[in-house]
Amino acid sequence: MRALDSIAPTLVTLAAVGIAAAALLAPVDAAAQPSKVKIGLMLPYTGTYAALGTAITNGFKLAIDENSGKLGGREIEYFTVDDESDPAKAPDNANKLVKRDQVDVLVGTVHSGVALAMAKIARDTNTLLIVPNAGADDITGSLCAANVFRSSFSNSQMGIAMGKVMAEQKKKTAVTLTWKYAAGDESVGGFKEAFEAAGGKVIKALSLPFPQVEFQPYLTAIAALKPDVVYAFFAGGGAVKFVKDYAAAGLNRTIPLVGPGFLTDGTLEAQGETAQGLLTTLHYGDGLDNPRNIAFRAAYVKAFKSEPDVYAVQGFDAAQLLIAGMNAVKGDLTKRAELVKAMEESKLDSPRGSFALTRSHNPIHDIYLRKVEGGQNKVIAVAVKNLTDPPRGCKL
Ligand code: BEZ
Repeated sequence: MRALDSIAPTLVTLAAVGIAAAALLAPVDAAAQPSKVKIGLMLPYTGTYAALGTAITNGFKLAIDENSGKLGGREIEYFTVDDESDPAKAPDNANKLVKRDQVDVLVGTVHSGVALAMAKIARDTNTLLIVPNAGADDITGSLCAANVFRSSFSNSQMGIAMGKVMAEQKKKTAVTLTWKYAAGDESVGGFKEAFEAAGGKVIKALSLPFPQVEFQPYLTAIAALKPDVVYAFFAGGGAVKFVKDYAAAGLNRTIPLVGPGFLTDGTLEAQGETAQGLLTTLHYGDGLDNPRNIAFRAAYVKAFKSEPDVYAVQGFDAAQLLIAGMNAVKGDLTKRAELVKAMEESKLDSPRGSFALTRSHNPIHDIYLRKVEGGQNKVIAVAVKNLTDPPRGCKL
């Protein structure tokens, strides 16, 4: 017993020396950077877009989990800020993540006005930013930057697709209705551009401040104007209330309501019967029959006990984009140019179908025409194949 007691410390010392020597001899590997990758999630977790922020977070973390919980071989530390979809608070919120927490990558957000402020801070500080929803056209237009990517869409894309479809359906007059901010303005702008180019006429453009939901005066105006169709941009809690109010006013029996898919995505359970038959355009649909979507939906339901929506897909793809970049540099964030190049050149296997990015870092993807049937946004056609964005003043 005494002999063993006296030998044990010697063995421990030898083992320690051995480990230290091995560590000194081991090749220096960039992938083995000691610190965790810091990811700043700036998303809405309260307010009308709260569910969208949660779905994006879930989708992002699901893709990371499927990648062994790592980025380029490194562990991850998350920092989270609730941006409340409030543009006035956006600079402070983004700076909390960039300056106080010193995140390596910013991921956010849902609201275009907040995202525009984030993009400015990302440019000023050269922080890598991935936008997992907000469609503000300028982010991949005049404000484009090498360090700013988008895994979602640009606002005008859905309007362009629906304007084309409504003209094909021989509608002659339309009224547009939206929250008055970049997302709605650009969405109805795209609709007007495509609808009028094909011979239709937007006879009235109505709007109300974000995130107000007192729709009655607008419904009364629509009833009096009697257009062939109404194109409306709302999302999250506001979309639930609008679709219900439209039906309660009896308008769904006389004037077809259409919109970008945000009108019915992630909202169908709450909208119930009032959403039945609605046509929308979006880069995703619930029942898309590709292997990635089938696997994604099953994994999402298993992990979160709820059905995924387009926001979850965009969160998933934001992580996939980052994984492509981080794997290419084996987690070495100092190799920024290589990382950006790998992200630019990635062709993502997304639940929406595979897609590539424009030079200004916006997805080029199919825009589907969907119809609400039995609690699902069913894809009934491809409205526009491989829709891309004009450069809009982007100088990259
Ligand atoms: C936006 O602000 O860009 C936006 C918000 C919700 C759904 C779609 C777009």
